[in-house]
Amino acid sequence: MSNQENVKIAPAQGKLGVLIPGIGAVSTTFMAGVEAIKRGIGQPIGSLTQLATIRLGKRTENRSPYIKDFVPLANLDDLVFGGWDIYEDSAYQAASKAQVLEASLLEKVRQPLEAIRPMKAVFEQDYVRLINGPNVKTQGTKFDKAQALLEDIKNFQQANQVARSVMIWCGSTEVFHKPSEVHQTLASFEEAMKRNDPEIAPSQIYAYAALLSGIPFANGAPNLTHDIPALLDLARERNLPVCGKDFKTGQTFMKTLLAPGFKARMLGMSGWFSTNILGNRDGEVLHDPGSFKSKEETKLSVLDSILQPHLYPMLYKDLYHAVRINYYPPRGDAKEGWDNIDIFGWLGYPMQIKIDFLCRDSILAAPLVLDLILFLDLAQRAGMRGIQEWLSFYFKAPMHAPGLYPEHDIFIQLMKLKNTLRWMRGEDLITHLGLEYYD
Ligand SMILES: NC(=O)c1ccc[n+]([C@@H]2O[C@H](COP(=O)([O-])OP(=O)(O)OC[C@H]3O[C@@H](n4cnc5c(N)ncnc54)[C@H](O)[C@@H]3O)[C@@H](O)[C@H]2O)c1
Repeated sequence: MSNQENVKIAPAQGKLGVLIPGIGAVSTTFMAGVEAIKRGIGQPIGSLTQLATIRLGKRTENRSPYIKDFVPLANLDDLVFGGWDIYEDSAYQAASKAQVLEASLLEKVRQPLEAIRPMKAVFEQDYVRLINGPNVKTQGTKFDKAQALLEDIKNFQQANQVARSVMIWCGSTEVFHKPSEVHQTLASFEEAMKRNDPEIAPSQIYAYAALLSGIPFANGAPNLTHDIPALLDLARERNLPVCGKDFKTGQTFMKTLLAPGFKARMLGMSGWFSTNILGNRDGEVLHDPGSFKSKEETKLSVLDSILQPHLYPMLYKDLYHAVRINYYPPRGDAKEGWDNIDIFGWLGYPMQIKIDFLCRDSILAAPLVLDLILFLDLAQRAGMRGIQEWLSFYFKAPMHAPGLYPEHDIFIQLMKLKNTLRWMRGEDLITHLGLEYYD
């Protein structure tokens, strides 16, 4: 594979602003974690940008630098946080209420977290039905609220003297929402905001404000948000990288680990039943059928694209796939996910696999937030724009170009991510052919 040497990457100089709609369990676990890591009282477990290496050249060359030494990423010391929420709690209070991290750890990072006070949110009850808070922008149309967000962003950037920024949606899951006429062009989108059209969701107003401010945008929830022509065109026009949707953390992470394995061995599958109990605020929001529908769509899409029943009808055409989420307050953030998988082998003989994953949702999500911020910032400095398919690794429902099917297999996603980094640095892509070792 030939080297390409044209990718110029601007250095990661100065501070990187991290703007987060949604100061909840995930985002506070992420911010508290970064502060703990900076102080040497925690380790960035689960983060590729901090821990993973990348093999370069032939296996005999023994070149495997850390990703963070191979591409110029922003330093954790240079991250500055800001965000919006419908509640007035500081990041310290929100983290304490979320009860993901121990109080003794939170105490040690109390000062920086207390300084993060959420700005007033753009919120609409029709999009997130089961929670309500006082810290919201009430004046004017949706277009006026977008202007207010632009002002918030400018003030944050000036006050913190940031050189660059990234925005990542860690807000609640909005109700299921399909693209409509108003989402087709920037003009129709802006017109719709001006007349307060119900088709414009709050998360879309944040994405619009980010892109207009020259800020890359990532979506950690399954909402439609910027996956619409109007905002994707805006991102391309402004040379901004974007990605989404829905962090791939617990059960879906397991699915994308296991399903490629069954398919690799040409084992059949007749059913996959997944159920969850969780008791955090996310669980409460997902109790609403509208928000659950958004989640269900992203969770269900995974198996079909991995197993490709149209290519392997004998193995997968009759697969029954169901996903349930139950709100169960006693569990808090410590989710439990059960999977029952019915597979079949040689001559059609059936077998069963049971998984009981006692996971911690926000502990799994926090390193993904960090990696996405650092990689999106890298992509922007490397002049990459539009959908960043190489970041599919992090998402349940990776955004993709029209006409392409998304890649869900986590091992293909990882290869794509690492090859993109090699490509950025003009290193040979790795195909795993390896015939040269036996010549
Ligand atoms: N934790 C995981 O493993 C995981 C995995 C995939 C996706 N997600 C998604 O990430 C998001 C965050 O998860 P969480 O556990 O932190 O939830 P959370 O409920 O603790 O936090 C979400 C926060 O967003 C706020 N919010 C809602 N609408 C808002 C708006 N319009 N503007 C600003 N703030 C708003 C809420 O008040 C809340 O504080 C959810 O959408 C969740 O589905 C989480």
